[in-house]
Amino acid sequence: MSFQTQILRYTDQELASLIEDETATEALGKEADKVRRANYGNEVYVRGLIEFSNYCKNDCYYCGIRKGNRKADRYRLSFDDILSCCEEGFALGFRTFVLQGGEDPWYTDEKVCQIVSAIKERFPECAVTLSIGEKSKESYQAYFNAGAERYLLRHETAEPEHYQKLHPDSMSLENRKRCLFDLKEIGYQVGSGFMVGSPYQTAENLVSDLRFLQELQPDMIGIGPYITHQDTPFANFPSGSLTKTLRMVSILRLLFPYALIPSTTALGTIHPEGRELGLKAGGNVVMPNLSPVSVRKKYELYENKICTGEEAAQCRGCLEARVKKAGYQIVTARGDVKKH
Ligand code: 5AD
Ligand code: FES
Repeated sequence: MSFQTQILRYTDQELASLIEDETATEALGKEADKVRRANYGNEVYVRGLIEFSNYCKNDCYYCGIRKGNRKADRYRLSFDDILSCCEEGFALGFRTFVLQGGEDPWYTDEKVCQIVSAIKERFPECAVTLSIGEKSKESYQAYFNAGAERYLLRHETAEPEHYQKLHPDSMSLENRKRCLFDLKEIGYQVGSGFMVGSPYQTAENLVSDLRFLQELQPDMIGIGPYITHQDTPFANFPSGSLTKTLRMVSILRLLFPYALIPSTTALGTIHPEGRELGLKAGGNVVMPNLSPVSVRKKYELYENKICTGEEAAQCRGCLEARVKKAGYQIVTARGDVKKH
């Protein structure tokens, strides 16, 4: 029986032990890499990330752009700014644009739809991904009708008690899940995920995250280490661990052989070769920053975020070299999920 088959049969207890087992990191990575190569070869997909607003009406305790952070220097990109980022990205070979922002009511549904349809009109062969938080099903439907085909919304943690320790009472896990199932029903390719090592998180919490994802069956799964931000209520909690994050990436690859799993900027932030290690552990997506250099430092979800000083072209070139060095190859196709 292959390890992949075994892990699918693991009990919660067995999974929790594996998650905590430092000595398992390397072997897990090897198994995960076999599975990724069987399904996706050595291909790594790129998504151009455009961080278009750091205003947010929410107050998540871990996040640097939470509304309560008076020190955050707020910005919004104009439609023209966003389209210029796409132009630049397109020229560099990007065929997916991810529009990410805080939950910023300034961008009404009408404005979001306008931006999405303008991008789709200008770049019909590109995929548009939205990552703009919790909305009503009607709003999600409107964005979909305007041409958005993918949506990223991490569930952050799948246990209600833990969820409430990370978020104020104005937010709930129930609504988060409602959003994710609405998005699926509408027909989006859906991405979810969580942070590894967030305050109060246990191995049992992480098992619940895996079980929730098995229920949701997302197309994309984004995870990264929790990283401390000084201007949040969690300033005194330590950042998450590199190796535990790598084990989680590998376990995800084994449980979700077809998933699109990014090797995240947060991984690259806690270790100079974090993204390379994330690819070797089972990741198959990278998301270079396409935001204008002038705003990059301001989209500070956590401290010391990498790639805040580079131009898009530099970021693209740098990542390409890193991906190659890790033994993979960047492909510029849209990179839709290879289905189940
Ligand atoms: N450390 C790591 N990841 C964070 N995110 C937000 N704040 C932090 C932090 N301090 C992640 C959340 C969110 C994604 C956009 O960034 O998981 O969904
Ligand atoms: Fe942005 Fe390396 S990926 S500078």
